[in-house]
Amino acid sequence: LKLARTVLLTASGIVGLAGLLRYFSFESQPAPQTDFDIGPASNFSPGSRTVLPQIPAVLLHTLSGFIALSLICPHLGCTVETRPDGFACPCHGSKFGPQGQLVHGPAARPMTALRLQSTSDGHLHVYTN
Ligand code: FES
Repeated sequence: LKLARTVLLTASGIVGLAGLLRYFSFESQPAPQTDFDIGPASNFSPGSRTVLPQIPAVLLHTLSGFIALSLICPHLGCTVETRPDGFACPCHGSKFGPQGQLVHGPAARPMTALRLQSTSDGHLHVYTN
């Protein structure tokens, strides 16, 4: 009986110590990337529509300049797909026009425009925050 008690106490001590070690060695996840260098602006010809799957977003080069739109559906967050006449969400059928304007829901707003910035080296950066 004494031996069983000693074994049980030792085992519970080891389990408790392992839990404490795991607790103190916890590392939080790194912050998600919010700044994406998508390369030189000259890579995107006028009139082009380029899907950027790493963001996910689409870059439009319009007559008035560049527009970056998030491909995350403003309804419930599915990934919006490109269509010849704009964009469509495969989850619940929302449709968006060629520049992300809402055509019909259930989404209640257009696709989200992302902040774009050109750096001194001519690269475009898309920001998701
Ligand atoms: Fe896109 Fe619902 S998530 S329409």
